[in-house]
This record gives sequence, C-alpha cells and structure tokens, in this order.
Amino acid sequence: MKVVLVTGGSSGLGAAICARLAASGHKVYGTGRTVLAGPHEHGYILLPMDVTDEVSVRDAVEEVLHREGRIDVLVNNAGLGIQGPVEDITPALAWKLLDTNVLGAHRVCRAVLPGMREHKKGLIINITSIAANFGLPYRSFYSASKAALERYGEALAVEMKPFGIDVVSIQPGEFKTNIASARLRPDTITPDHQAGYQKAMEVLGGSLHYSRDPDELARVVAKVIASPRPRTSYLVAQGVQRISVLAKKLLPGRMFQRMVGKHYE
Ligand SMILES: NC(=O)c1ccc[n+]([C@@H]2O[C@H](COP(=O)([O-])OP(=O)(O)OC[C@H]3O[C@@H](n4cnc5c(N)ncnc54)[C@H](OP(=O)(O)O)[C@@H]3O)[C@@H](O)[C@H]2O)c1
Repeated sequence: MKVVLVTGGSSGLGAAICARLAASGHKVYGTGRTVLAGPHEHGYILLPMDVTDEVSVRDAVEEVLHREGRIDVLVNNAGLGIQGPVEDITPALAWKLLDTNVLGAHRVCRAVLPGMREHKKGLIINITSIAANFGLPYRSFYSASKAALERYGEALAVEMKPFGIDVVSIQPGEFKTNIASARLRPDTITPDHQAGYQKAMEVLGGSLHYSRDPDELARVVAKVIASPRPRTSYLVAQGVQRISVLAKKLLPGRMFQRMVGKHYE
C-alpha cells in the first residue's frame, strides 16, 4: 500500500487515476482548485490545492504528511490546455499555462521531495503528453509546456537517483476528459489565421481518440507504481497518434512538418 498524491484529481485523467489506485488498495489523495476537503465516493480523499499558489501547495502536502507520515508517490497530473495561433497568444496567457503545467509541477515537487529524500525512496510520475514530442499547430504553448516538463523530469531523475527516487513521465494521447472545454484561448484571432485555426480545431474536435476511456491511462499509472523498476517514459497512445511519435524520430524534419500540416488541413 502506497501513499499517493495526485494533483488535478478532481476530473478527467486525475479522477480516473485516483479511483483506480484507491481500488488497488493504495491510500490516495486527489487535489484540485475546485474541490472541498473530504472523502470521495470512490475511496480516495480530496484536498484543495492550486498548483499556481505555493502556500496552497504547501498546506495540502503538509496535510497529507500530517495524516500519513509520508508520500510514496506523487502524480503531477494537474494541467491546462491552450489553443490559438502563436501570434495571438499574449505572453500573459502563455505564462498562465506555463505557471500551471510546468511551474505547478515544480512547486509540488519542491514540497514533496524533502520527505522522499528523508525516506530514501519515492516515485514521481509526470503526466506530460504526446504533444511533448512535436509542436502542434495552434497549440504551440501546450506542446512547449509538455516538452519542458519532459526535460525537467529527465534532469530531476538524474539528480534524485542517489536518494532512491524515480522520476517517470507518461505521455498520453487524447482521452475523453474536460481538457478541450477548459483550454485557454486568446481574446482575438488575427483574420489571416482564422481559416487555418478554425480548420485545425475542427480536425482536433473530430478526433475519435477523444472517446478513449481515462481508466486506460489510469491502469498504466497503477502498473508503473507496481513495477519494481519502472521505465523512464511511457507512451499511452494508439493509431495515428502513436505512429506520429515514431514518424517524428524517423522522418526528415521538412517531411514531418508537411505530414503535420496535411493532417490539420
Ligand atoms: N485528455 C487528454 O486527451 C490529455 C492528453 C494528454 C495529456 N493530458 C494531460 O493530462 C492531465 C489531466 O488533464 P485532463 O485531460 O484530465 O483534463 P481535465 O479534465 O480538464 O482535468 C484537469 C485537472 O487539472 C486540474 N487543474 C487545472 N489547473 C489547476 C491548478 N492551477 N491547480 C490545481 N489543479 C489544477 C483541474 O482541477 P480543478 O479545476 O479542480 O483545479 C482538473 O482536475 C493534464 O496535465 C493534461 O495536459 C490530457
């Protein structure tokens, strides 16, 4: 039985991860900005936490440590999406995304790592995205934030190895959650970008991958936690999404760019 803290446990992938891990017998704490503290019907405990607020992060982590004495596993899952032509994304809007998706995870790591170092063991799972592998058109800062989280996790893994702490990244493809409706968007779209942006959003909205069950991802998280020697990275995507990650590695850059462009035409 592990004590697990899951950020963004109030909906989507995070809620599925909490439910799956609780059903597997772990002691699970799920957090979010919009939750009231207390037990959830699926066997885990909810705690309020805004990952952009250092005091809120510290309070929630201290609450878990006070109740359980340790945190064995941290799942950095809280995250936002963003959509819009690059030119129309203001630095303030980009900052809001990076503050949640990158610095949010960093704040929680900073709060949890001292306890893990003391116990000489721990596991941090960063939920990134297949978007970390390439710049998706009209979702530039989403790709950038997830790529940043990947590189952050790689560096952290090496630094934490002497303390028995593993850092793993899980890259989901598209799953059925609230992420699309919660995406940040610019107030105005430059007319020249309107047609390309609209078309890309239609293609994205029509993706069948969005019907995938979040529990599929939650099962992978459970498997990683159960593994005595987890891999550094897991890709949880199917079909064209899975192939695109391989294509990015194998194809010449221009050819891959054309392929991405064609997909969103
Ligand atoms: N769904 C997909 O297709 C997909 C694909 C690849 C990667 N991902 C990644 O998976 C993770 C979960 O996304 P999801 O698809 O499950 O979307 P979701 O249903 O919108 O859930 C997002 C979660 O993040 C939390 N959150 C957002 N901002 C927060 C903040 N400032 N502080 C604390 N919690 C915050 C939300 O809780 P509150 O609103 O209560 O704060 C919510 O629980 C994200 O990191 C996302 O980038 C999703």
